[in-house]
Amino acid sequence: MSTPVFRIAIAITAGLLVWAAGYRFFPALESNTALGEQSIPAYANTSVPDAQRAQLIDGRALYAGACQSCHQPSGQGLGKVFPPLDGTDWVTGDARRLALVVLQGMTGAVTVDGQVYTSVMPGFKSQFSDEETTAVLNYIRSAWSNAAPPVSSDLVRRARDEVSDRIDPWRGEQELHGFLQALPGSGQENTP
Ligand code: HEC
Repeated sequence: MSTPVFRIAIAITAGLLVWAAGYRFFPALESNTALGEQSIPAYANTSVPDAQRAQLIDGRALYAGACQSCHQPSGQGLGKVFPPLDGTDWVTGDARRLALVVLQGMTGAVTVDGQVYTSVMPGFKSQFSDEETTAVLNYIRSAWSNAAPPVSSDLVRRARDEVSDRIDPWRGEQELHGFLQALPGSGQENTP
């Protein structure tokens, strides 16, 4: 003997259970991306040409996340530990050398603006794609007082190939310069 109120309560409870079970057992209802957001960021979309992809990445944001804790937002570096990136030949000069420093990192003596640094710079080879590396290099080459021509993601890809087997950071500028001189095509490194 059930009252109408009791029957309504049962009906509502049953309805809620079916609805909940629907989400529990058919997760596709929720996660079917075809029904929702499907946009791929343009920089990750492989149908966009490489050179264009690098331009779409925000090099300044990558710099803020990966470099500025040491080199500072002003690019002036910090004390005798972190060298400046503003107005240094390392940044505005030979693009291939610059790519090799950022991909592989460096430890040991390096002279920047007449000051010798012997600290540790981590490499970004495993963290950044060619396009991301290109974007961050192009940011530092054009930020602050720097006005160097942009580098291509092709240059970065070739630099990455040159150090594909290498694990250790460069042992100072001496080792890096020796490596550059031994490479075929040395003397043309300035071509971005
Ligand atoms: C943990 C601190 C640290 C981070 C993070 C860091 N660097 Fe460095 N960087 C250094 C140090 C220290 C040196 C000098 C290395 C040495 O003494 O051998 C250096 C050297 C350099 C140089 C060559 C010298 C100069 O001052 O021009 C460049 C170019 C450079 N870094 C760019 C970058 C970029 C680009 C990033 C981010 C993608 C970055 N660094 C992230 C610490 C850092």
